[in-house]
Amino acid sequence: MCGIVGYIGNRPAREIIINGLKRLEYRGYDSAGIALLNDEIKIFKCKGRVKELEDLVNSSDFDGEIGIGHTRWATHGEPNELNAHPQVSYKGNFIVVHNGIIENYSRLKRHLQSRNIKFTSQTDTEVLANLIEHLFVEGDLSPEQAITMALNKVEGTYGLAIICKKEPDRLYAAKKGSPLVIGVGENENFIASDATPIVEHTQRVIYLKDDDLAIIKRNELILKTIRNHPLEPEVQEVDLKIGEIDKEGYAHFMLKEIFEQPRAIHDTFRGRVLPDHTGIMLGGLHNVFSQIAKADKIIIIACGTSWHAGLLGEYIFEEYARIPVEVEYASEFRYRNPIINKGDIVIAISQSGETADTLAAIKLAKEKGATVLGICNVVGSSIPRATDAGVYTHAGPEIGVASTKAFTSQVTVLAMMAFETGHLKGIISDEQYISLIDELVSIPDKIGKALEKNTEALEIAKLMQNSRNALYLGRGYLFPVALEGALKLKEISYIHAEGYPAAEMKHGPIALIDENMPVVVVATKDNTYDKIISNIQEIKARKGKVIAIVTDGDTVISKIADYVLEVPDTLPAFAGLLAVIPLQLLSYHIAVLRGCDVDQPRNLAKSVTVE
Ligand code: G6P
Repeated sequence: MCGIVGYIGNRPAREIIINGLKRLEYRGYDSAGIALLNDEIKIFKCKGRVKELEDLVNSSDFDGEIGIGHTRWATHGEPNELNAHPQVSYKGNFIVVHNGIIENYSRLKRHLQSRNIKFTSQTDTEVLANLIEHLFVEGDLSPEQAITMALNKVEGTYGLAIICKKEPDRLYAAKKGSPLVIGVGENENFIASDATPIVEHTQRVIYLKDDDLAIIKRNELILKTIRNHPLEPEVQEVDLKIGEIDKEGYAHFMLKEIFEQPRAIHDTFRGRVLPDHTGIMLGGLHNVFSQIAKADKIIIIACGTSWHAGLLGEYIFEEYARIPVEVEYASEFRYRNPIINKGDIVIAISQSGETADTLAAIKLAKEKGATVLGICNVVGSSIPRATDAGVYTHAGPEIGVASTKAFTSQVTVLAMMAFETGHLKGIISDEQYISLIDELVSIPDKIGKALEKNTEALEIAKLMQNSRNALYLGRGYLFPVALEGALKLKEISYIHAEGYPAAEMKHGPIALIDENMPVVVVATKDNTYDKIISNIQEIKARKGKVIAIVTDGDTVISKIADYVLEVPDTLPAFAGLLAVIPLQLLSYHIAVLRGCDVDQPRNLAKSVTVE
């Protein structure tokens, strides 16, 4: 939520910051702004996308060699020019861009208002800017002291970049709860919410930790805590190629990411599956596998699409490792005093590694004595740092707001964990273990085959594009896939869609079925196949339009369904990895046909760092 970019160096800052904000637009895109520092400071802000900000800035000649920029996902105050960042303090000395929420802002605001300090926006960020100014002016403090004192007074979360007018040779950056990365260049330095705006300039980065404050000059970087303890900056080389964050000829990031899945899944198991397929080595979990094998219970916590991956993980773990699994929404788990016993394993799943509810749930699980493992995509993000051990999915940067390759790579990791645990426990024989690994290794090619049905998906999308509702049904391993298919449709095309266990349809949703209701049935071959045929008959008897996802060569369902999309045959545990592909393509095409902004759907953000 909200993207921050900062630059200090000898090059014109304007283009660097605008380009950086474009890379971070997946984090929020309801308004944007930039402050540029030259002999004077100029601020440009507008409602809308970074492109609109770019047009606004380009209407002026003004540039600077120092600047900060912001793309917003509104929390406090509607998206408009006044509430857009940067926010400027009442005397104009401090210019602030912020990602996060200042939770005690209304108390602080009342206090500042009682001192006759005026506010021009509804944002919590202006409260912070004014608090810094107030401490600076009234407390006779240096800018740095005013900033640290203010940060010690605020509750909540922040990633911050600050310019102080009195110190035109530096930027301040601070972090608590919201991510912030510093890029270390030659005679120039960068600040950003993640590494994507930085890597085209330098691969050397510092991931700030909570309560860190950085004072960043062109040739110098001082790192300390907000309690003034000096810190040694830990510079890391980031392994992110610029091509990975470009669309590479695809119309949208989402489409590129859907088509990247064979490569992404391959990268997820590459180096982890032994070349002769006789074993799985998840280095990050090496020391905890015996503990997982002994666990009485596994609790999976996640949000959104990652939660759906967790649900598939439950089915795979219970079948192959015979450990009871509960899958919890992180936001529910953390507020209901969950029962966690020592020795229970908690697995947190998150693409971004920054989701606020998941992070808070991890903290709670650790307080209750659980061993917490992470499955994350973004290297160096907060969740991998907060967990006891974990596995990166290595799917590469996911920019489209609707998650696709993150889902399939998370399921791949969960499957590897379950097989390894089951094998360790002696539940899976050596022979079965090897055949599961053989099948896993064949999945990228099979996803490639499923992707060949793109044109058919487009044709079906044309028929569904004007629907107001859609139902997605599946059973067993295919139920989480139905949930994920429905989520994909609603988040990018704004068509109301519900995922349901196919048999439960009779207990409610069947009342909705008529000739206008498309019903997407995920019906590849497994042990519930015969039952789902009956469910399809029930829909047809009520004139519903059935779009079925079936196994290649299926002759039964293709006769009763109105349309079918085929995917290759696989073992039930992997069926979700293939069946989800046509559902992703279907949603993508429907959204494009409806003229929706696929990569930046309304009201959503890629990384939800507010609770
Ligand atoms: C947001 C994104 C979803 C994502 C969810 C969880 O809602 O739009 O695509 O599934 O957050 O994010 P995480 O990064 O924790 O997987």
